[in-house]
Amino acid sequence: MTTLAFEAVGKRFGGTVAVDTVDLSVPSGSFFTLLGPSGCGKTTLLRMAAGFVLPDAGRVRVGGIDITRVPPHRRGLGFVFQSYALFPTKTVYENIGFALALRGDARARIASRVTALCRLVGLHGLEDRYPHELSGGQQQRVALARALAPEPPVLLLDEPLSALDAEIRARLREEIRRIVEELGITALYVTHDQEEALSISDSIAVMRDGRVLQAGSPSEIYLHPRHAFVARFVGTANTIDCHILGADRVQCGDRRLPVRPNGHAGLAGPTILTWRPEHGSLRPGSVDPAALPGRLVGASFLGPVVRLRLALASGETVLAERTARDWFAAPLEPGAELSLAIDPDFATVLPADEQSRTERCLDFPPPGRRSSGSAP
Ligand SMILES: Nc1ncnc2c1ncn2[C@@H]1O[C@H](COP(=O)(O)OP(=O)(O)OP(=O)(O)O)[C@@H](O)[C@H]1O
Ligand SMILES: [Mg+2]
Repeated sequence: MTTLAFEAVGKRFGGTVAVDTVDLSVPSGSFFTLLGPSGCGKTTLLRMAAGFVLPDAGRVRVGGIDITRVPPHRRGLGFVFQSYALFPTKTVYENIGFALALRGDARARIASRVTALCRLVGLHGLEDRYPHELSGGQQQRVALARALAPEPPVLLLDEPLSALDAEIRARLREEIRRIVEELGITALYVTHDQEEALSISDSIAVMRDGRVLQAGSPSEIYLHPRHAFVARFVGTANTIDCHILGADRVQCGDRRLPVRPNGHAGLAGPTILTWRPEHGSLRPGSVDPAALPGRLVGASFLGPVVRLRLALASGETVLAERTARDWFAAPLEPGAELSLAIDPDFATVLPADEQSRTERCLDFPPPGRRSSGSAP
């Protein structure tokens, strides 16, 4: 098992800073995910680990050894691309065994390794097929088996599932996780799909503009975001303006809420309060002084829960939730006056960023889409 580390790694392409001074340690045997929007530098960082891109600054280490200038084929790392990049004129067997044949392994050893890998990734019986005779999911399994064939200590995966449909993607991501765990290797996985990142990772690094904004376990990232962008990008987050009143109080509109600003108590600039829709509880009426007053303006049925849209007295709009069971037992009328009490253990005060004011919540339904203003 092997740790992969980036130390102050940077890369520019002309005037574009693709990766900006990234320090990151991927612990041995862990499943580590780089998550972020398009163009934030995920692929560039991964390709620097693989050796396909040379950093302008910093070092890459595997197992403590500096590999920054070691050519890709001498790093011994596995790489799975977004496009499967299989050899079209070779069979499944030949594709998977390619690197082993190249390095001169004996035929018998290649045969036993390819057979074992085909079983591991679910390709048993398809060894003689060519890539064009396989589905997208099967081709990606070949790519995975091919990367695993030389027994790399570290596997790098760049959006390996993005070309597949949702159902196969969900199944294959669980399988990739299982295989990586079974083999005890270190995996660095790139995705811009936050649900995928939350579901399979030991750790996630959220990136934006070439930087890592926050790295931590999925629950840390989701429950305790340290940056407004992280709160918005991972899951659904409410954000409203707030003023810090002291060590255990913030003011939002005309209400004082029992929220601890923690590390941000002395913050001078504009601040926001952020929380997840499932961490607010609704009560009828609007007199509770420790809750936010508002009116119900929309409800969307999401299966297990009903997502409610509230127009606060302050003019801001936020989301709350009720279980579908509670909702159907006592549905609320549009326009109903409500108080939203936020669970202080799951509310976070953060410095406002440039987007906080314009983009309050990522999953508000666009006008004319989804049900709005009426009970589902
Ligand atoms: N070879 C290149 N030449 C010039 N610019 C590049 C090159 N590779 C990447 N970039 C730029 O660097 C930035 C980071 O690109 P990168 O491919 O790492 O992003 P990403 O996070 O993987 O995005 P996506 O989710 O769309 O794959 C982008 O602005 C991109 O245009
Ligand atoms: Mg990419």
